[in-house]
Amino acid sequence: MNKLASLIKKKKLNVIGLLSGTSADGVDACLVEISGFDKRIRLKQLAFKTYPFSKDVQKKILEVSDPTYENLDEILRLDMALGRHFARSAINLVKDLGYDMKKIDLIGSHGQTIRHLSDPFFCLGKKIKATYQIGDPSVIALKTGVITVGDFRRSDIASGGEGAPLSPFAHFLLFNKLNTPQAVLNLGGIANLTILLGTQKIKDVWGFDTGPANIIVDFLVKKYFRKKFDKDGRIAFSGKVEGRLLASLKKDSYFNKRPPKSTGREKFGEEYIKRIERLGKKYHLKPEDLVRTASELVVQTIWESFLRFVKTKQKIQRLIITGGGAHNRYFTLRLKQLFEPIEVVTSEVFGYNPDSVEALVFALFAYLAIKGKPGNIKRVTGAKKESVLGRICLF
Ligand SMILES: Nc1ncnc2c1ncn2[C@@H]1O[C@H](COP(=O)(O)OP(=O)(O)O)[C@@H](O)[C@H]1O
Ligand SMILES: [Mg+2]
Repeated sequence: MNKLASLIKKKKLNVIGLLSGTSADGVDACLVEISGFDKRIRLKQLAFKTYPFSKDVQKKILEVSDPTYENLDEILRLDMALGRHFARSAINLVKDLGYDMKKIDLIGSHGQTIRHLSDPFFCLGKKIKATYQIGDPSVIALKTGVITVGDFRRSDIASGGEGAPLSPFAHFLLFNKLNTPQAVLNLGGIANLTILLGTQKIKDVWGFDTGPANIIVDFLVKKYFRKKFDKDGRIAFSGKVEGRLLASLKKDSYFNKRPPKSTGREKFGEEYIKRIERLGKKYHLKPEDLVRTASELVVQTIWESFLRFVKTKQKIQRLIITGGGAHNRYFTLRLKQLFEPIEVVTSEVFGYNPDSVEALVFALFAYLAIKGKPGNIKRVTGAKKESVLGRICLF
């Protein structure tokens, strides 16, 4: 039987999820066993590992991610070259586990976002949104010998949505607890919030990108401290918050915009950092004060958008943190203080390593694609229609 047809019929699939987020720190790879349908989908995480990018690879990704970068030929080449990196991460995960690729049924790869154009712009007389993830899934399928699904976000944009955030659907399956309203906060390069009301209806799930998280802190720490990131939030703890800088940064129109909304490096990339630096100079701030104020901006904009946009905020009992930012103790401490009396935990409490959750999301979407089930939530992305996400690459 043809491979795709047998996958559609198979009840339990071993799926690898691959993702590199806005931080472009490396490929998160997870192996998960998935079965069932609709609300009864079962996910069992079998393994997770991050395969960090070398400095050169990260530099290249950040270079082409700059909104002013225009060398299309180089982007096309990087798309193919990164496909190999993603494939290698899948192969290494399987090897590190002592598994055989033959046991893997499917791969879901998010790829690496290099553009996220969620603000509609006129093109051929129509208002158009767009997003672009590189790390070609056809390369992954061919190199691994496993059917690979990619390009999940474009399907949602084709349905009229912003293509992001997509994780709320998966957060529902992983964390929803009946009669317990909870919120999930992913602290990646960008922060996104999911609201789970504790009902059984996927329609009740809601979420949006609150704004920048690690992206701005990483940038400052790289430039002034020559480190990849602010380990455990130590630099933030050593600086002070400059109120005038914080107030000025908060004025950005994104924070006031009503959801559905999603964002990326276009908005909170180099230009935004330059603004931080300019004001930092004006107020004679030390580099650690910039880092602390930027970190404070992250937590305060999360808290304020929660207050402002989440109607059911009084009922929320728990905030579950995922993403690399869950390791930043400045973030977690300040979020605990701000969200008090709401309990603040990391996804570890639910048995999921915070770094692994977003990769799991794309393993799940690959499964949904093969089974012909939609993965987007209309009120989250603003899509007009629920649709099956992704593009299936055979080999
Ligand atoms: N121990 C740590 N202390 C502070 N921050 C951390 C730590 N580990 C990871 N991070 C942060 O998490 C980021 C990666 O998070 P991730 O969820 O992979 O984001 P993305 O999805 O944007 O790639 C790193 O760039 C770094 O800023
Ligand atoms: Mg990452």
